[in-house]
Amino acid sequence: MRMVDLIEKKKRGGALSQEELEYFVQGYIKDQIPDYQAAAFSMAIWFQGMTSEETAQFTQAMADSGDQIDLSSFGETTVDKHSSGGVGDKTTLIAAPIAAAAGCVVAKMSGRGLGFTGGTVDKLESIPGFSSALRTDAFYGQAKTIGLVLAGQTGEMVPCDKKLYALRDVTGTVDSLPLIAASIMSKKLAAGAKNLVLDVKCGSGAFMETPQEAEELAKQMVSIATACRRRVTALITDMSTPLGTMVGNRLEVIEAMEVLCGRGEERLTSLSLALASEMIHLGLGLPQDEARNTAEKMLTSGAAMEKLLQAVAAQGGETKYLENTSLFSPAACQTEILAKEDGYMVGPDALMVGRASVLLGAGRNMKMDKIDPAAGIYLTARRGDYVRRGDVVMRLYAEDQERIAAAKTLLSRSVQIDEKMPSVPPLIFKRIC
Ligand code: URA
Repeated sequence: MRMVDLIEKKKRGGALSQEELEYFVQGYIKDQIPDYQAAAFSMAIWFQGMTSEETAQFTQAMADSGDQIDLSSFGETTVDKHSSGGVGDKTTLIAAPIAAAAGCVVAKMSGRGLGFTGGTVDKLESIPGFSSALRTDAFYGQAKTIGLVLAGQTGEMVPCDKKLYALRDVTGTVDSLPLIAASIMSKKLAAGAKNLVLDVKCGSGAFMETPQEAEELAKQMVSIATACRRRVTALITDMSTPLGTMVGNRLEVIEAMEVLCGRGEERLTSLSLALASEMIHLGLGLPQDEARNTAEKMLTSGAAMEKLLQAVAAQGGETKYLENTSLFSPAACQTEILAKEDGYMVGPDALMVGRASVLLGAGRNMKMDKIDPAAGIYLTARRGDYVRRGDVVMRLYAEDQERIAAAKTLLSRSVQIDEKMPSVPPLIFKRIC
């Protein structure tokens, strides 16, 4: 087999066989196929697309390119949840313990956040003592005894995606639906869970701008999961404004605790419950309405909060900070943004808040950047709230005044107030399974 023939075939719109796709994946990770051929191959896929069979086979070949987690000893109850990324999205910290409290096994190995999409382990590491670096035996042991593990990635999972994604990033080939779907799903397949709940976001703070684009991506991911014998549900959800009221790692842990204590903001609570219900529906095989009742019971009884505390304690975290979040030390600097007139809050826009959170130090520009756990934004007024001139609409937190000033300039410009109540898009646009 020669790589140039595969490129020619795809360039002319042909469908590649499983052997050809495996040849590319193996050759590329072993450095036998150079970057320039991988780039030409990605561009040919960008123009010609892939059939659903090709996409599923490519995904499986990528998942098989490195280490994989074997959760087969837990049977059918293993569930993973994936969010395509957004601003203030802390639903994993809420939905995962709800599902685990109901009897699902949620053993997640997650990557860190890049840009304004915070990673779950980054958020959890803002709890003093918490460690996301678990030895393999500890990972499986905690999955067995507690049913909830939120760990960072170890070993070399999906090396082909790591290499190819970096190449796509600099060759104009990121925005290809089959390549995006294969990239995300290869990591989910390697993560080992039998059941998958996908939260595909759309809006200014998401990878996909419109519900239609998000639906197209979701359909491709559902098709891959089904072809690879996983049970799957995808929800298309709104990311035009941040989810909840807090953005930033420690702030998001605090807000997740608010939800688990029954005092959460409405849309955040509602989406967390919807995702947890889907996890329980798939993991325990319960009908949807029963799964929903179970999720609500796990939340209101405190069982989900107890589950999160157990998992955090098992991973070395000092749970007193979760039980009393006022113990967290405050950020060194803070400031407020005030409403300049009376009226209804139109935003805040997810993209602007996301960018500002990176300026404050809550997100990374580059993989090696250190994040400040205390940095972030508290949105004291939400879309549709009526505010009066001089009311505080946002509080900003960072370790120095320079960061505060940069974020304040960006956010002050983006705060919009209107005399008319803005229209509010639905929280969940569609359910795909
Ligand atoms: N996220 C991924 O993991 N891969 C892509 O290709 C795009 C977004």
